[in-house]
Parts: sequence; structure tokens; C-alpha cells
Amino acid sequence: MSSGALQNGATQIVVRKLSKVYPNGLRALDNVNVTIKKGEFVAIIGSSGAGKSTFIRSINRLVQPTSGTITINGKNATSGGNLRYLRRDVAMIFQQFNLVKRLSVLRNVLMGRLGYKGGLEQIYPIFNSKDIDLALASLQRLGIAEKAYIRADQLSGGQQQRVAIARALTQEPSIMLADEPVASLDPETSIVVLDILKRINREDGITTIVNLHQLDLAKEYADRVLGFKGGKLVFEGAPEDVTREVYERVYR
Ligand SMILES: Nc1ncnc2c1ncn2[C@@H]1O[C@H](COP(=O)(O)OP(=O)(O)OP(=O)(O)O)[C@@H](O)[C@H]1O
Ligand SMILES: [Mg+2]
Repeated sequence: MSSGALQNGATQIVVRKLSKVYPNGLRALDNVNVTIKKGEFVAIIGSSGAGKSTFIRSINRLVQPTSGTITINGKNATSGGNLRYLRRDVAMIFQQFNLVKRLSVLRNVLMGRLGYKGGLEQIYPIFNSKDIDLALASLQRLGIAEKAYIRADQLSGGQQQRVAIARALTQEPSIMLADEPVASLDPETSIVVLDILKRINREDGITTIVNLHQLDLAKEYADRVLGFKGGKLVFEGAPEDVTREVYERVYR
């Protein structure tokens, strides 16, 4: 099944009995079961060490789970299959932006097309006019088209995160993962970045899963909140269901 075929609201990600035990014996995920729908904006909350990053990184197999399964668009995402296709369909943005500092903004955004290149082109990519048009359109959408030819390290943190989002968008993913995307930004810039993620989520129907330390932002932006504690999913519900009692359950 191709991801584009999925209607908004259809089941897209099915996580079953997912556990991760790191080589040192630490159980970072403990029997997690959850289903995420196409087009949802999901916020993940929990204290430091709760397993939020491990969970998000399992979805594009940056972390290999110890047991359990994740099915994405009807395909097993935890073993076998085509990892390149998975990483192309599941884009990711990071707290530290992960740009190539010495390259131009446009070059960085074009990296989003690498998953579509094969063989030698993975090393010496040739970007065609479709790639360049997509990259420029992404920059335009994020309001930073005028920065296309500037070196990435000459931008502010908020601008760099917008470049990282443009790169993710240029992948044409069906799912966007964001691990603490605003943790390195000031409060006003955080709002700008989350507004952009939400707009892309709504306009393009890209399923968005975001780890957030700030509970107020999670409640404001998410359709659904997942609360992790000690590797277990201890809460799953609408933002308005995150009551004082839930807060205590997740953070204490
Ligand atoms: N590569 C690793 N090897 C061993 N233990 C790890 C590894 N990565 C994470 N852990 C441990 O697994 C647990 C969950 O880590 P994870 O990074 O998923 O938590 P988190 O909820 O994202 O925390 P934070 O809010 O601090 O980012 C923690 O106890 C962490 O120390
Ligand atoms: Mg983390």
C-alpha cells in the first residue's frame, strides 16, 4: 500500500507490544501498544529518561526494538523491508537541527531528495529540476527562500530549524517525527516553529509526532497526547484530558 493512498483518519501506524532493552540492560520501552491515524498531530510527554526519544526513533528504525512490531502503511517497519523507503517516507527533525553547516541552505534542503537517488548518486547526487523546484518551494513555504544561497551556519537557530523542516518536507514524507524540535529555541521562536509544523500537518495531511518537554505546548498543538513513564505508555488521550491527576501519573 502506498502512503499516498491513505485517507486522513485511516489507521497508519500500529505499534504492538513494543519493547526496547539497551545492551546495558536498561528497559527503555516496555510493552507499548498504540495506534496513530493518518493526519494526526501527536505530542509525546514524559520526564527525562521516560523513553520518548527511544519511541520516536523506533518509528524510523534509528533504534532497533528488542521485541514487538511497528506497522506503517500496512508494512512491517521493524524488520526486513526497504529501510531506504522507510526513512524517505518517515522524515525526522531534531533538537540540534542537524544541518551540514558549511553547505548552503538550498544544498541542505536538497538532501531531502537523497532517498530518491540510487547507487553512485547516493554519493554524488545529481539533482534534477524537480528536486530543485521542490526544495525552493519548501523554502518558500517556510518563508526563508531569500536565504537559499547562504551558508547554513549563518542563520539563527529558528531559521536553521525552518531549513531542517524544509529539508524534511522536500522528502515528501507521509510521517514527520520531531524529537524536541523547540528545546533549543526561545519561547517566541518555539511558537513559530510549532505553528509551521501544525500548518504542514493540516495542509498536507502529514502525520506528525513530536516530543515536547513543555506540557502547555503539547496541550495547545496536539490532537492527542501520549504520556510515557519508565518506558510504559501511562496516558493516551485528548489534550483536554490531561488533568492534574494525569500530570501526576506521568511526571511523578
Ligand atoms: N544507547 C543507549 N544505551 C543505553 N541506554 C540508553 C541509550 N539511549 C537511551 N538510553 C536510556 O534509555 C532510557 C530512555 O531514554 P530516552 O532517550 O528514550 O528518554 P527520553 O524520554 O527521550 O529522555 P529526555 O527527555 O531526557 O530526552 C534512559 O534511561 C536512557 O538513559
Ligand atoms: Mg529524548
